[in-house]
Amino acid sequence: MNGAGQRVRIFDTTLRDGEQSPGVSLRLEEKLEIARQLQKLGVDIIEAGFPIASVGEIEAVQAIARTVRGPVIAALARTRVGDIDAAWDAVHAAESARIHTFTSGSPVHLRHMLRISEDENVEMAIAAVRRARTYVSDVEFSAQDVARADPEYLVRLYGAAIEAGATTINIPDTVGYSTPTEFAALIALLRGRLGVGPDVTISVHTHDDLGLAVANALAGVEAGARQVECAINGIGERAGNCALEEVVMALVTRSDHYRMEVGIRTEELCRTSVLVSRLTGMPVQPNKAVVGANAFAHEAGIHQDGVLKERTTYEIMRPQDVGVPETRLVLGKHSGRHALRERFEAMGYQLADAEFLRAFERFKSLADRKKGITDADLEAIVHAEVVGAAPERYRLQYFQVTSGNNTIPTATVRIEVSTGEELQASETGDGPVDAVYRAIDRAVGEVHMLADYSLKAVTEGQDAAGQVTVRLQDGEGRSVVAHGVSTDVIEASARGYVAALNKLAVQTGQTVVATEH
Ligand code: KIV
Ligand code: ZN
Repeated sequence: MNGAGQRVRIFDTTLRDGEQSPGVSLRLEEKLEIARQLQKLGVDIIEAGFPIASVGEIEAVQAIARTVRGPVIAALARTRVGDIDAAWDAVHAAESARIHTFTSGSPVHLRHMLRISEDENVEMAIAAVRRARTYVSDVEFSAQDVARADPEYLVRLYGAAIEAGATTINIPDTVGYSTPTEFAALIALLRGRLGVGPDVTISVHTHDDLGLAVANALAGVEAGARQVECAINGIGERAGNCALEEVVMALVTRSDHYRMEVGIRTEELCRTSVLVSRLTGMPVQPNKAVVGANAFAHEAGIHQDGVLKERTTYEIMRPQDVGVPETRLVLGKHSGRHALRERFEAMGYQLADAEFLRAFERFKSLADRKKGITDADLEAIVHAEVVGAAPERYRLQYFQVTSGNNTIPTATVRIEVSTGEELQASETGDGPVDAVYRAIDRAVGEVHMLADYSLKAVTEGQDAAGQVTVRLQDGEGRSVVAHGVSTDVIEASARGYVAALNKLAVQTGQTVVATEH
């Protein structure tokens, strides 16, 4: 239990409205697996299905009713005898069972879809609730499309349902048309006009067509609703239902504002989201609130620095509270020194200041071209170009290559020498890498022999970093091995070659080696 004040019951409809998501069809065992997880999550009610829809649906609801203990198991039914009987047939084995019967409340639904009069609708609602009450004391009644209905008619319809024995009246904005202030006003109006007492619960059921499902549900709670109908990951018809994880975390995180309690074990939210996504085949967008992959990931340097100093600077929830193991700092072009140093330390590297500066510079240049720098990228940078690298006598400033199947590969390079001198040269070659190597040799005024050259991908994907390993020999037979890393193979090759020249320069005494190296 969390929060402080009255209890809001969480009615999960992932297996009924959620399964109505276009393209989703769950098998019985999959529904059972989700229902068991919902039990662990601590939802108050599981709407297990719409039994009249098919034999498979009846069997799934029956299996859930027999297996799951704790939450109330609800079955959906239209205001028809056959539906109510099928619903009872499916849920009667539950520890606590509910029949949820529904009709419509708006003129557009009554006239064009149900093709019945307002009076007939009220009569059918009364009969359905009464029949459901012959089976079970827990009966919910809904009238679809309240946002486009006449509130006076809703007072009459819901009033009749309560009179007939409904214990929960659910107010659905079926087409996601309402706004938070409008919806709150409607809930308040119905609550006042129906004179709802403690034995009847007002419920809200909101859809996300305008992206307002969660906001409308919360507005409903503020206006007196004490049950929220929602689905994991917000799945459901069209744009979906109110997202359970979002509405719950809003109530929990802002309990100072809502002053409500919920019985949800929030640490199970992420696991439930992953399970539902896997079994329904509906991916969760990375920036999805609470359970998205980026919900606790920070990339901007200022944010990373803030979070490393004090998590609450940029996080209003603790990742552990929703079942995410930890805050994730995504290393990319916006990241700063603080985050990079932390990551290196976590990877076990204690870099001296000079090494770190070099690694940071290389990291920035790689991040400019590659989204999301992985540990493998960092490892390649450190091993190839930082730890064990010779002091830089030569530094590659710039290179340009023209190549193609119909042109002679030509390269121009500019190299800065530690003395401050700048060397520039152009050359042609058998291929672009050969042209670059010849241009470097011409620039530094020495010819070298490339004894070995290899290229391997450090990471996967189109923007994978490549690591080139170069074995170079000078005229005196001295041989060195060095590496270069870049998302551009030619650049990785050039960097490897220049790194090798720097090692040779140390061997020939052209570079004075600092003691820390
Ligand atoms: O959106 C809706 O109106 C429904 C009802 C069956 C409650 O799902
Ligand atoms: Zn719905």
